[in-house]
Amino acid sequence: MTENGRERTNNATLLKWVDDWAKICQPDAIHWCDGSQDEYDALCEEMVQSGTLVRLNPEKRPNSYLARSHPSDVARVENRTFICTEREEDAGPTNNWVEPAEMRSALRAQFDGCMKGRTMYVIPFSMGPIGSPIAYNAIQLTDSPYVVVHQRIMTRMGQAVLDVIGDEGYFVPCVHSVGAPLEPGQQDVAWPCAESIDDKYIVHFPETREIMSYGSGYGGNALLGKKCLALRIASAMAKEEGWFAEHMLILGLESPAGEKTYVGAAFPSACGKTNLAMIQPPEGMKDWKTFTVGDDIAWIKPDAEGNLRAINPENGFFGVAPGTSYDSNPMAMQSMSANTIFTNCVLTDDGDIWWEGMGPAPAHGIDWQGNDWTPDSGRPGAHPNARFTAPASQCPTIDPAWEDPAGVPISAFLFGGRLANTFPLVYEAYDWNAGVFMAATMGSEATAAAIGQEAIRRDPFAMLPFMGYNMADYWGYWITWGQRTDVKLPKIFRVNWFRKDADGKFIWPGFGQNLRVLEWIVGRVHGTKDAVDGPFGRMPTYEDLNWDQLDFSADQFAGITDISREGALAEAAEVAEYFTKFGARLPSELETERQALEDRAKAAPEVWSTRDA
Ligand code: OXD
Ligand code: MN
Repeated sequence: MTENGRERTNNATLLKWVDDWAKICQPDAIHWCDGSQDEYDALCEEMVQSGTLVRLNPEKRPNSYLARSHPSDVARVENRTFICTEREEDAGPTNNWVEPAEMRSALRAQFDGCMKGRTMYVIPFSMGPIGSPIAYNAIQLTDSPYVVVHQRIMTRMGQAVLDVIGDEGYFVPCVHSVGAPLEPGQQDVAWPCAESIDDKYIVHFPETREIMSYGSGYGGNALLGKKCLALRIASAMAKEEGWFAEHMLILGLESPAGEKTYVGAAFPSACGKTNLAMIQPPEGMKDWKTFTVGDDIAWIKPDAEGNLRAINPENGFFGVAPGTSYDSNPMAMQSMSANTIFTNCVLTDDGDIWWEGMGPAPAHGIDWQGNDWTPDSGRPGAHPNARFTAPASQCPTIDPAWEDPAGVPISAFLFGGRLANTFPLVYEAYDWNAGVFMAATMGSEATAAAIGQEAIRRDPFAMLPFMGYNMADYWGYWITWGQRTDVKLPKIFRVNWFRKDADGKFIWPGFGQNLRVLEWIVGRVHGTKDAVDGPFGRMPTYEDLNWDQLDFSADQFAGITDISREGALAEAAEVAEYFTKFGARLPSELETERQALEDRAKAAPEVWSTRDA
């Protein structure tokens, strides 16, 4: 598979960069990826031969494969993820920082000879439709064929991207190695990686826009277009260039009258983003239509008319498998019916896959570690972070405009976490700065194991693990947009589906009903729905929501929307404590918003209710 890159591009910068890294990594061969189906099929076949992939039963799951990773390599490694800016304060208090020169020399030592016995693949890829004014081109070097086939699903990949880059064009350089060189004659393993966590490095140099990843072959550690480029590096590029790179799904909602409204929604990892991106109208709302543009990341730029237009920079879904079923997310299930790579799922005896929460368990299977498994074996068959990697084009609700290079116009931003108390089902920010405040302070209740310091673990904008620079500067950047008169600013909302009653049970009847809340949000955007002013923001009364064919009483609604003064005051006090971490970089507008929340809470009755408003 050795090829000469000079036959594929005349870009001297690119050719020299590949040569330089080849000298460092010392691969046995270099393969420039063309992105073709033949190339994909040949690599998959090689991985079936080498034991990295298992071909699934083509009658059940055409052109699909299962991979099992090494048990030390099953998720993103946040404590080995670094933002290397010249000055520590530019990475900020929420990131791991190492001085760039020091990190470069540590990485140089790791990468030295790291691809011996392996092929170095050169993967040209575009985040976003090729040639879109919102997209960016990048090149990833990797010694993992598993990464190559993933990048073909998750990005637009291949020769077309080299052609767009041309002789002089810019690309974001991304270098990746699994960190497992082979001695001459050494037998490879099914999932090579650096087994010690201390030998894994996921490194970003936002000031020079470079990514280097070493030691892991899994997910966001290795598919460098996703979290590394599309969020961490892109967040820094966006601030410099005047756009947004956000951890948001993009959803299109078409009303019974045929009016289409797009929203971007940010939730922390594992809060059901893929489910919301593919939501289906419940009984009573069947005259609505829903459309998926993206399930994880949005790149958003103002157009000449001042509309904020969003693209999904990705080309596929890298979804968490456990819990996904025809009940919870039929569109995801259909998206992965063929041409899909599964990782760390159960292999069934008829050559298909299964995971916890998919439906009835098979009587026997092979678990994610390759061992015999039965439902009574006392351990999960699939890893909790098992994944499916499926082409977005296979999603039945994919929006007709999902590949429009101009993007889709965003009318509302939603932010949410998992909060059992105090926070209501939905509220609208009083204005832009209040919206930035609610996004900056969002979070989820700490799990029992993590309780100790703060009751709420803040995940600002759902970007905590994905910020490429100082979080407080990012908030300040969002604040600057509120002063712009040349853009149509979306309305900002917070949602919380997770409030619990006194018995610890969820009050909201379930995920499928969320469209009722989205209908109110759409109505607020178009000025057709009412709201009342509450301590946190503007809220619907019971009468403002559509309850057609849903038995949900005004009392239940009160249980999910009443706000205790004590709870709101506690939130204002906790936020004050949280903000101290950001020192002088905290935008003063956010402290003003915090005080406004405190004042509204103080003036509210002991229990504020939309019934009395
Ligand atoms: C993801 C994440 O996998 O946010 O998308 O962790
Ligand atoms: Mn995500």
